Amino acid sequence: MFEFFKADVERNLRDYLPCGLVKRVALCLTLNSIHAIALIRLQFWCVKHDLPTIFFSKILFWFFKIEISRHAKIGPGLRLPHPMGIIIAPNVEIGAGCDIYADVRLVLSHGNPQGPRLGNGVFMGDGAKAVGAITIGENSIIGVSSVATKDIPANVTAVGIPAKVIATDIIRS
Ligand SMILES: CC(C)(COP(=O)(O)OP(=O)(O)OC[C@H]1O[C@@H](n2cnc3c(N)ncnc32)[C@H](O)[C@@H]1OP(=O)(O)O)[C@@H](O)C(=O)NCCC(=O)NCCS
Repeated sequence: MFEFFKADVERNLRDYLPCGLVKRVALCLTLNSIHAIALIRLQFWCVKHDLPTIFFSKILFWFFKIEISRHAKIGPGLRLPHPMGIIIAPNVEIGAGCDIYADVRLVLSHGNPQGPRLGNGVFMGDGAKAVGAITIGENSIIGVSSVATKDIPANVTAVGIPAKVIATDIIRS
């Protein structure tokens, strides 16, 4: 858990780097993204150690209106620039180094317990959604308020409802 959290902190501070230790500590104490991710990682620490998650999940909900199933999987280097209104259903898998903006929903479709799978480096823009047992390929971008309902290939930008590919072979920094 601590390795994952360390990678999360590095990615969330990347816009402020390079900076000294004092500024890093100040950022960690003030950035909402770091606070929300700390609560998320603590929730998963409780799951791993078979402890009740209610304390951290309630704080996460009260402060950030974020709900994350204990049965979801989230890789290291998670970036949440505006941590608000995010819902992640059971059996959702999020790869390493993903960016999840405000109001993103990763949810199940009726009758299928498997949630969306996000490859490494996926960018879910503000209000973007993924529904059902679909895969969003590595490094792809789902645009603002777009809804992915079918598999999205790797390295593309997809927008609209339902999300359609508008650019291929994109390179994300
Ligand atoms: C998806 C995105 C990356 C596309 O950016 P882009 O590659 O520069 O694409 P463009 O702006 O040139 O748009 C290309 C086409 O897609 C359309 N489009 C872009 N984003 C769209 C969206 N979210 N929903 C529907 N259509 C969209 C444009 O209207 C345009 O259509 P046209 O060719 O008919 O004129 C960008 O629109 C986006 O959503 N970025 C995420 C922003 C975000 O979440 N920021 C976080 C908060 S700060």
